[in-house]
Amino acid sequence: MRKTLLGTKLLLFLMSYPLHSIEDEKNSLGNKVAVISDELSAERDRVLRISADFDNFRKRTERDRLSLMEKVQGEVVESLLPVLDNFERAKTQIKVETQGEEKINNSYQSINKQFHEILTSLGVEAVETVGTQFDPLLHEAIMREDSAEYEEGIIVQEFRKGFKLGERLLRPSMVKVSAGPGPDKSDEDPIPPADEGISPVVKEEISDFDESVDSSDSD
Ligand SMILES: *[C@@H]1O[C@H](CO)[C@@H](O)[C@H](O)[C@H]1NC(C)=O
Repeated sequence: MRKTLLGTKLLLFLMSYPLHSIEDEKNSLGNKVAVISDELSAERDRVLRISADFDNFRKRTERDRLSLMEKVQGEVVESLLPVLDNFERAKTQIKVETQGEEKINNSYQSINKQFHEILTSLGVEAVETVGTQFDPLLHEAIMREDSAEYEEGIIVQEFRKGFKLGERLLRPSMVKVSAGPGPDKSDEDPIPPADEGISPVVKEEISDFDESVDSSDSD
């Protein structure tokens, strides 16, 4: 039978093949598998490491990019703040009596509005002042004054707007802070003027800003 013949041939072949040689082959294949498996696992570790490195690199780059962008934006905005101050000052000097002046006022209002919109879109926020707690990290106190209306440490008046860009303070606001209700005036000498001790330069600055203070802020 054909089947038997094939079986016999295979048997003869196997018998002619030295047994130790099969054993060698098996060992050598086993070694190869072990080596390849080691290599594979080393490669896997390497890929994981590279991937983690790249991830860190990507995060660091993104962080650097954002902080550089914030820095540049901050500088740009800082350079615009004096313009903003001039706008605020101009606001107090606009007098509308004639039609021409009304046109000027309208142009002024729309440019001012646009300017504020640009600053807002850049993430610039005004520092909160009147009615909030004085914070030396955000506010610069240039005056203290007794106040029946505000508790001690609460901001009473704003002289110059301060601005933040995200967490970054671009410049502090200049404020007057309440010193509390003060001593009972009925049996005390009159309190000395609140701006005592302030340098003439600052005084000048205050009177400069005084005009531009928006009294609607102090409610
Ligand atoms: C200028 O115009 C705005 C509105 O466009 C108005 O609210 C403001 O009162 C005007 N200023 C003066 C001084 O009339």
